[in-house]
Amino acid sequence: LPIGILVSGRGSNMEAIADAIACGRVPARIQVVVSDRREARALELARRRGLKALYLAPGDYPSRQAYDRALAETLKKEGVELVVLAGFMRLLGRDFLDQFPNAVINIHPSLLPAFPGLNAQRQAWEYGVKFSGCTVHFVDAGMDTGPIIAQAVVPVKDEDTPETLAARILVEEHRLYPEVIKWLAEGRVTLHGRRVSLKI
Ligand code: GRF
Repeated sequence: LPIGILVSGRGSNMEAIADAIACGRVPARIQVVVSDRREARALELARRRGLKALYLAPGDYPSRQAYDRALAETLKKEGVELVVLAGFMRLLGRDFLDQFPNAVINIHPSLLPAFPGLNAQRQAWEYGVKFSGCTVHFVDAGMDTGPIIAQAVVPVKDEDTPETLAARILVEEHRLYPEVIKWLAEGRVTLHGRRVSLKI
């Protein structure tokens, strides 16, 4: 499965996916990594791996729609069939999503629909939940609202800080995200309305 990874920052999920592909655990190929931030560490990490890594500057486009179209065009040109958001900090609109129907996924560091948006791990910690985790979902035009493909759960411990909780969730992110890409590559994921089922 030819995939494109969109990033804005650290790039640890991109690394986990690239590692899983490199060791043959996931039948996918990373065609391109695209960042909307020039200083993203993910770009540097991708280049170090010999992956094609591009910076697409939002400031070069007159509107959000124009940026979305340019982004979609870039990915199409590289033959991308699945778009993987890995710490990509922009909302994608119809102009982008219509080009990749049911083929854009995201990972979010909470058990959605709880704690969408920024700083999900801190939100969960402040709320006082006893379990949190991560969610891989299809992307729609809302913020962290698309159909849920898979979730992983971690306990919240009394001695946790937002940082220790985030670290525990991140371990699960790095395990779950490559796994879901594997399922998609194997054609085992089906969408029925907003419910997703997995063929075994
Ligand atoms: C992860 O916590 C992910 O769940 C969220 O953004 C963070 C990205 O981290 N969407 P990284 O860039 O993959 O290290």
